Amino acid sequence: MKSIAICYDSPDFKLKAKQLAEQLECQLIEQSTPSFEFILHINSNGLSLEHSACSKQTPLYIDFNSGKSLYRRLHGGGKNQPIAKAIGIKSQFRPTVIDATAGLGQDSFVLASLGCEVNLIERSPVIGLLLQDALDRAVQDPQTQAITEKMHLHIGNAEQIIPQLAQADVIYLDPMFPDDKKSALAKKDMQIMQAFLTKSDEDPLLETALHYAKSRVVVKRPKNGPYLNNQSPSFQMIGSSNRFDIYLI
Ligand SMILES: C[S@@+](CC[C@H](N)C(=O)[O-])C[C@H]1O[C@@H](n2cnc3c(N)ncnc32)[C@H](O)[C@@H]1O
Repeated sequence: MKSIAICYDSPDFKLKAKQLAEQLECQLIEQSTPSFEFILHINSNGLSLEHSACSKQTPLYIDFNSGKSLYRRLHGGGKNQPIAKAIGIKSQFRPTVIDATAGLGQDSFVLASLGCEVNLIERSPVIGLLLQDALDRAVQDPQTQAITEKMHLHIGNAEQIIPQLAQADVIYLDPMFPDDKKSALAKKDMQIMQAFLTKSDEDPLLETALHYAKSRVVVKRPKNGPYLNNQSPSFQMIGSSNRFDIYLI
């Protein structure tokens, strides 16, 4: 179990920080300290996760209105981008999607920006809080409001949550890449994610997804990574560093 504390960066946030500390059952602190491996900061910008062992690393902060999300929304290639083709977006057809490994919500944001209704599931309560915080900010912003209104976050294990949701056309899986340092660690945000999250066996998710998806399950993998569950897909779409394995129902 990684050690984590909640730090409020101004007294205005003490109450909210206290609630979060109770929710996550962790300690409340006033200043960053290396005694904790991770520190969840709360301030006027929202929530961010600092890896105190790597002080040079930028804290993990999700913002749908800047960086990669903004770039992909404006210049990402719309429905011609690989993820859109993989989930089966057609001229008039927008499948409903369950993103069962939501993480930072980047892929879900792309799908919602293309018009898909997306249920996101994230197992880590801390990553879930960062994501909910980003969604709450984005829904207040006219640039991202219509998109993020299509994104509905559920925190918990997808194994348990998928059966409780309305059936979706597509279930999308992007579990942590197997120890592929080049592809995963190249992305800064993923460095903190990898340090923070404990790896676990993701394979049962594929079985559950195949059972509950209406038309297909899409799995994102490193370009040369093994199949999830050792199960070969119906077909693949291969990009420069990733590939999508598509399992038709
Ligand atoms: C590689 S990240 C996903 C990144 C995401 N596609 C994005 O665009 O930001 C994988 C995420 O899946 C989550 N996860 C793994 N297994 C899960 C499960 N059984 N239920 C819910 N979330 C899960 C992990 O906690 C992690 O945050």
